Amino acid sequence: MQDQDDIILIHVTVNGTPHRLLVESRRTLLDMLHDDLGLTGTHTGCEHGNCGACTILFDGQTVRSCLMFAVQANSHEVMTVEGLAHGGQMHPLQQAFWEQQGLQCGFCTPGFLMTAYELLKKNPTPSDEEIRTALSGNICRCTGYQHIVDAVRAAAQTMASASVTAPSGTPA
Ligand code: FES
Ligand code: FES
Repeated sequence: MQDQDDIILIHVTVNGTPHRLLVESRRTLLDMLHDDLGLTGTHTGCEHGNCGACTILFDGQTVRSCLMFAVQANSHEVMTVEGLAHGGQMHPLQQAFWEQQGLQCGFCTPGFLMTAYELLKKNPTPSDEEIRTALSGNICRCTGYQHIVDAVRAAAQTMASASVTAPSGTPA
């Protein structure tokens, strides 16, 4: 029987939208996002912190959502892969993964996208070695990784040229 003390009210902002949720104290952040909020882009892989399929941004930093409890997100900001696109336009990273064939089955892709997003925020012009190091905690069983590296490099170039050509006052 469910003990009412195990149900906790949390307030969390996900992809810019505030949510008020009742969650079990043992519920993972991954399950809350995937099942309670229907954000199915965050994938369940190993559930042990090894594969990176569940990677999200938590207050701007990548975390494994399978290793966090939902209650830990109380009063915090979360970004999932669904937060990348805007106005029906894919993020340059998504576009580059598509164009460079950076995915095959796509199961790992949301985790790679979020990890690459964090990398390019911190380092907009990474070398291939820096890209490989940043992505080394994410596992892909399909692509052989080279196309993923190519995609991140291409996205970095697109984002760099967009920021050069954007009129002043345009948000990044
Ligand atoms: S499902 Fe979280 S790291 Fe694999
Ligand atoms: S594209 Fe299939 S696991 Fe990466």
